[in-house]
Amino acid sequence: MKVLSVVGARPQFVKLAPVARECASRGVEHVIVHTGQHYDPMLSDVFFRDLGIPDPDVHLGVGSGSHGVQTGAMLAAMDEVLTTHRPDWVLVYGDTNSTLAATLSAVKLHLRVAHLEAGLRSFNRRMPEEHNRVLTDHAADLLLAPTQVALEHLTREGLAERTVVVGDVMIDVLHRVRDELVDPAGVLAELGQSAGGFSVATIHRAENTDDPQRLAAVVTALQEVDHAVVLLAHPRLRARAAEQGLDLDGGSLHTHDPLPYPALVGAVSQARGVITDSGGLQKEAFALRTPCTTVRTETEWVETVQLGWNVLVEPGPHVREAASRPAPKPTDAAPYGDGHAAAAVLDALLR
Ligand code: UD1
Repeated sequence: MKVLSVVGARPQFVKLAPVARECASRGVEHVIVHTGQHYDPMLSDVFFRDLGIPDPDVHLGVGSGSHGVQTGAMLAAMDEVLTTHRPDWVLVYGDTNSTLAATLSAVKLHLRVAHLEAGLRSFNRRMPEEHNRVLTDHAADLLLAPTQVALEHLTREGLAERTVVVGDVMIDVLHRVRDELVDPAGVLAELGQSAGGFSVATIHRAENTDDPQRLAAVVTALQEVDHAVVLLAHPRLRARAAEQGLDLDGGSLHTHDPLPYPALVGAVSQARGVITDSGGLQKEAFALRTPCTTVRTETEWVETVQLGWNVLVEPGPHVREAASRPAPKPTDAAPYGDGHAAAAVLDALLR
């Protein structure tokens, strides 16, 4: 069997790592295509290096652009790649523009597409990720759902017969990295913080960064938190803040460049809280049992909220209140699986 994975953005490299390992351990031929959507070394190369992912076989070098320009450039370039490699499965990940472009190219070439992390829904049709995931799920041949909730969404959309619940591959990689790669003291020294005394923040979603008033409100709210907040600043955030003359550092808020994955896991596991608009980080915080405050109106990862480890807030004083709340009661719930999702993915592809 020949599997061709298409990735392009930071969270996809994390999800690729356990799949690449599983392919290698089973002797499955695995071609890796990097679209180039993320190109900064800290958003791309360090993930391949730290997570032991083989170098991409193909790099499209597409880079940034408006949604249409970026997605269109990837779509055009994928035709040739897929025609050359003719894999048994094209495996696409998550909900980025890279996911959608690879899916469209593959289905039109009559190649089978499997969508990893299928069935997530925010029901917010203004999010580019929501367009990408709905369109990908309806085009793909095999839907690899992380949770029962995702299966329920797909069932309501008439897609149950194509769906297999496999768990969440991010838990596979998180467990391995936590157990093998994290240097807790080094992470704290790098951030200039002490264990339990700070929150880790990330803000990068268009709905938070691209509206000047909303971005100013988010930054003010983070600056007013009653303990230190280390903001791991995505390039999009830095660019928008600079355009608006907004100083990110101030009050409780200290900016830092994005962290490599093992350092991120180390930081979150030693933080008193996480404040974010990232999807993956909400789950990582839950898996490490660090309370999360999500600056969004909805979440795809509803289990984290239902179990009491995540709260959704609007920018404003609620951020400060939520960020200083005590940790909830311990739980041993595992809605995202037991860390063996990549094996279930390969089993499903082989079937
Ligand atoms: C993309 C995904 C989002 C995912 C996120 C993870 C889409 C629609 N969105 O958002 O779902 O959560 O990745 O980070 O696919 N930039 C750089 N260097 C880079 C990459 C981006 O400076 O290596 C800057 C550019 O100014 C670019 C902007 O960030 O225009 C946005 O990048 P883009 O890849 O379009 O989307 P993300 O915001 O990263």
